[in-house]
Amino acid sequence: MSTMNTQLKYGMVGGGPGAFVGPVHRHAIRLDDSATLVAGCFSSDPAKNKVASAELHIGDDRTYADYAEMAAAESRRSDGIDFVVVVTPNHLHFPICEAFLLAGIHVVCDKPLALTKEECVRLMALSKEKNLLFMVTYTYTGNVTVREARELIAAGRIGRIRMVAAEYPQSWLASPDQDGGKQGLWRRDPAQSGRVNALGDIGTHIENLVSYVTQLEIRRLLAKMDVLVPGRVLDDNDMVLLEYTNGASGMYWCSQVAFGQINGLRLRVFGDKGSLFWSQENSEELILNTDTGRTEILRRGGDRISPAAARFQRTPAGHAEGWLEAMANLYVAYTETLRDVKSGNPIPTTPNFPTAADGVAGLSFVEACLESQANGSVWVDIAT
Ligand SMILES: NC(=O)c1ccc[n+]([C@@H]2O[C@H](COP(=O)([O-])OP(=O)(O)OC[C@H]3O[C@@H](n4cnc5c(N)ncnc54)[C@H](O)[C@@H]3O)[C@@H](O)[C@H]2O)c1
Repeated sequence: MSTMNTQLKYGMVGGGPGAFVGPVHRHAIRLDDSATLVAGCFSSDPAKNKVASAELHIGDDRTYADYAEMAAAESRRSDGIDFVVVVTPNHLHFPICEAFLLAGIHVVCDKPLALTKEECVRLMALSKEKNLLFMVTYTYTGNVTVREARELIAAGRIGRIRMVAAEYPQSWLASPDQDGGKQGLWRRDPAQSGRVNALGDIGTHIENLVSYVTQLEIRRLLAKMDVLVPGRVLDDNDMVLLEYTNGASGMYWCSQVAFGQINGLRLRVFGDKGSLFWSQENSEELILNTDTGRTEILRRGGDRISPAAARFQRTPAGHAEGWLEAMANLYVAYTETLRDVKSGNPIPTTPNFPTAADGVAGLSFVEACLESQANGSVWVDIAT
């Protein structure tokens, strides 16, 4: 396989002053020098856009007032960006991704991929039609310990999976007087967040994490979606029961109103020979219980981590890696593949990073939950 050695160039839409996740993407890309930022439309506010581009050393000629202009101009340049990173509120993901795909530019977009499954399917189809590489940044699948959990399950270490229990509780919107700042405002607004808040924002992380680690497929689900803080329109607490196609059972809980919880994404997978436990707030460890009655703590950086997971680590055991490195790992996988694709190699059928198909699965999950809730929390088959 031939590979391209020149440095990749990227542009960003969103991630202006005060943004939450845009800077995380930039830091993560810099960690491994995966690509260089050369263009952007960082904010819809012209003054903030200028501040961001000055701080990031982007010239006026590549600071764009809107994303459509950026897609068109960058596609015309001989030194145009290789890929765009989309880190705006949810309602803009679809039009922005579509504009860049139509302009022939590879795309990375944060989750949830779009507001509806139909939009996600359109983006997936368009990226295939145009032979463009698409990543959806479900960050947690970049953790070395999460990759190791997938390897252990695939190797049969916990046997056939019988049940899954996963949760993602937070507390940042727990009281009526906690509006969550600008991040909380748009997430609670259906025009910008879509038909769900918590379920799209953090519930889709659970859906993707379970799917990635276990490779189970959801057959049907039953959801109870709550609005616990008075005055809100969209869900802030969701509970979902699931059945997978192998017959296993699952339960997911996500919440933004759970006092004392900060970013408590946790996963337990139980098989007929053992179980695995992973917690994002202690992501240096993976706990394996076997049918011998023994509990093993696998530490990232140790010599027991399998090569497929270990190749993504940078620091030795005891020198903590976390969220930033997980995001960086997704970019390492994406940019390695993009270099191959730009050298003329085909897009792999199973890339080593979350794709538009994962984005589709996220909205499929959300729409099944909405259907269940609308009908009095009944079982709903998941549409494939
Ligand atoms: N992967 C993760 O772990 C993770 C974490 C947090 C957020 N997210 C996702 O990232 C996205 C952004 O979330 P956030 O919390 O950073 O939001 P934010 O409100 O902090 O930032 C959004 C940015 O988009 C900019 N923007 C808005 N409209 C724009 C336009 N028309 N053109 C250019 N820029 C525009 C805003 O000025 C702001 O800088 C969301 O889809 C969210 O779900 C993912």
